[in-house]
Amino acid sequence: MWKSPPMSGTENAEPQRRASELRARIDEANYRYHVLDEPTISDAEYDGLLHELVLLEEQHPELVTADSPTRRVGGVASEEFPPYQHTVPMLSLANAFDEEDLRAFDARVRKLAGSEPEYVCELKIDGLAISLRYERGALVSAGTRGDGRIGEEVTPNIRTVRSIPLTLRGAVPRLLDVRGEVYIAKRDFERMNKQREAAGLPTFANPRNTAAGGLRQLDPKATAERRLSFFAYAIGADEDAPQRPATQSELLAMLRDLGFPVNPHATDCRTIDAVLAFCRRWESEREGLDYEIDGVVIKVDGLALQVRLGYAGKDPRWAIAFKFRAQEAQTKLLDIGVNVSRAGKLNPYAILAPVHIGGVTVERATLHNEADITRKDIRIGDTVVVRRAGDVIPYVVGPVVERRPPDALAYRLPHQCPVCNSLVERPADDAFSYCTNASCPSQLRERIRHFCSRGAMDIEGVGDVLASTLVDAGLVRDVADLYELRANVLADLPRMGKKSAENVVAAIADSKQRGPARLLAALNIRFVGGQNAVILAEEFGSIDELASSEKERLASIDGIGEQIAQSVWFFFRRPENRRLLARLKQHGLVMIGLKREHGHPGEGPLAGRCFVLTGTLPSLTRTEATDLIVKAGGRVVASVSSKTDYVVAGEASGSKLTRAQSLGIPILDERGLRKLLADYSV
Ligand code: IVH
Repeated sequence: MWKSPPMSGTENAEPQRRASELRARIDEANYRYHVLDEPTISDAEYDGLLHELVLLEEQHPELVTADSPTRRVGGVASEEFPPYQHTVPMLSLANAFDEEDLRAFDARVRKLAGSEPEYVCELKIDGLAISLRYERGALVSAGTRGDGRIGEEVTPNIRTVRSIPLTLRGAVPRLLDVRGEVYIAKRDFERMNKQREAAGLPTFANPRNTAAGGLRQLDPKATAERRLSFFAYAIGADEDAPQRPATQSELLAMLRDLGFPVNPHATDCRTIDAVLAFCRRWESEREGLDYEIDGVVIKVDGLALQVRLGYAGKDPRWAIAFKFRAQEAQTKLLDIGVNVSRAGKLNPYAILAPVHIGGVTVERATLHNEADITRKDIRIGDTVVVRRAGDVIPYVVGPVVERRPPDALAYRLPHQCPVCNSLVERPADDAFSYCTNASCPSQLRERIRHFCSRGAMDIEGVGDVLASTLVDAGLVRDVADLYELRANVLADLPRMGKKSAENVVAAIADSKQRGPARLLAALNIRFVGGQNAVILAEEFGSIDELASSEKERLASIDGIGEQIAQSVWFFFRRPENRRLLARLKQHGLVMIGLKREHGHPGEGPLAGRCFVLTGTLPSLTRTEATDLIVKAGGRVVASVSSKTDYVVAGEASGSKLTRAQSLGIPILDERGLRKLLADYSV
C-alpha cells in the first residue's frame, strides 16, 4: 500500500535518506545485471542491501513506498485473476515454416510498400506474452494476452520478476504499455527441477510450461520461487511520450534505455537472404542460449511503413514468425527394452510409435535408468513427450498423465540380464543396475565396438554389426582376439566377402600403431575417456609405467582426481587385465609414446595454455580434440578452475560450461578451437 513519506521529522531524516539510497542502489544493480548484463556487485552484496532495506522498512513502516524493491513479493494470494482489458489489442503473428514462406512474405511486403524494406530479426522467445502498464514511470498493472483483447491480470506475480523494472529510468511518458515475453532461463529451470527432485516433488517437463505456470500461481511467493525473466520487444498504447522512435531498432534501444532487458541478438537485415541466414544460424545455434527460442520474428524496421502495411485479419502484414522445426513431440510408448552396455550397465530405452521430430523419424528414445522411470512415473501404454534437440540422443521427457489409458503398466527393470540371464545388481548409491557376468555377450560386443570406435583404436569396418557377429560366432572373447582374426575365417561370415575380410584384417593390423593414449581410451577403464587417456599417457610415457604406478601418484596428476586414480589403479591390479595387456603387447601394439617433461611446458604455439573440453563437438572426438591441443603444446585438464585458459564446449555441455561462464573464461566451439589452432600456427 502506498504511504506518503512523512512531511518532516528530523528523527526520520536519516532512515529515509538511507532507504532511498538503498532503493537506488538496488534498482541500479538490477538494471546492470538484467539489462546491461554487466553486474557490478556480487549476489551476496545485493542480498545484503535488500536485507538492510527490509529491516529498515520493518522498523519504519511509514517509509515504505509502493515501488520499493522489497515490495516485489508483497502481494497477497488471490482467489482468481481479474480480467485485464488491453487498450491496444495484443495480436499474434502469421507463421513461416520454410524459405518459400519467407520469400513470399518479402514479396508481399515489397509489393505493398513499393520500395525495398529493411527488416529487423529478433529471436522468438518461447515464453508467455505479457503487457505491462506504466503510469508516469511506475508499474501499475500487468496482464496476459488472453484472447488478445482481454487477458488475465497478474500484477502481483509480475512484480516478482526481477528484470521487470518497477519504475522506469530517464524521461518517461505519461502512459506506456510495454510488451514482451516472460520466460524462465534454462539454468533456473534446471535449478528448480533439482530442488523439486530433492524434495520428492514431480519435476517440470519444459521451461515454457514452467514459466506459464509460474505466472498463473495464485500466491506470488510461488511465482517468485521460479525466478522468471523478461525480454521487452514492443509497445502497445502510449501517451505523451517524450521520444518517438522511427524504427523497430530505435524502439528496442528506447526500451533498453527505459530499463527493460532487450534481447541482444536483434539484428538489422537489409535483404531477405540476410534474414534467411539469420534464421538458419539460430536454428542451429539455439542450444547454446540460456533460454528457449522457437523461431525468429521478422519485422519491417520502419514504424511508419508498419502502420501503412497494417493488418490482414488478426495478423500484421509487417511481421512474420519463422518457426523452427519442433524439438518435441508426443507419441505412444509401446514397450520398454533394455540394452546392456560395455560396463554391464542396464540401459532401458523406449520403443515408440514412430513420430517425426525435427525432420527425423524417432522410434527409440533413451529412458536413462529405472529410478528415472519411476520418478517420472512413465508407464507402458502412456502417451509420452519425446525430445530431440540438436545432436542429443532423443529422450523421453515424461508422460502426458491426462492421456493415460486405464491399462497403462508400471515398469520394473528385470532382475536378470535380458541378454545372458545372469543376476543383476544395483550397488547402493547408484541409480543404475548392472549385469554381473563379465563375459555377457552384450557387454563383450559393446567393449569390442568401443575398442574399434573412432575416438579409440579407430578400426574401420568393425561396427555394431560385425562386433555382434564376431561375438555370436565365438571368434572374439576379448579385444586381444581381434588381432588373431584371419581373413579366410572372416570371409565365411554372413555379409562378408573376401575383399572386405582382408580390409578388416588390414585395418586391425594398422591399429597396432595407434599408441598408448588411444589404447588407454579403448580399454574400457571406468572414467577414462579420450581426454584422461591422453593426460595419463603423456604423464607416464608408457602403459607399463602407468600400470605399475601407485594410487597416490595417479591422484596427484593435474586433471586426474581420486575417483579416476582409484579406477585406473584397480584396473591394472586385476590379473585378467594384466593378461590382456600382455597379449596385446605380444601382438605388437605400440605401448610407448611421448612423455611430457615436467618443468618444461610443451613446445608449440599453445605452450602453457590450459584447456577443458566439455560436451560433444560436431566432428572431433575427445581424443582427436585433445590430440590437436597437445600437439600444439597445450594441456587438457578435466576440471574448470581460474587457471583454465579456454573451455571448448560442444552440444550438451553441462556444469563445466556454466562454471566457465561464471569465471569469465573464454568459451570456444569447435570452429573457435580450429581457428585458434590455425591462427597460432601461422
Ligand atoms: S512481436 C504483432 N517479437 O511470439 C506482433 N513476438 O507468434 C506481436 N514472441 O504472441 C509479437 N518473441 O508471445 C514478437 N521478439 C518477439 C517475440 C514474440 C516471442 C511471441 C509472442 C507472440 C508470439 C507470436
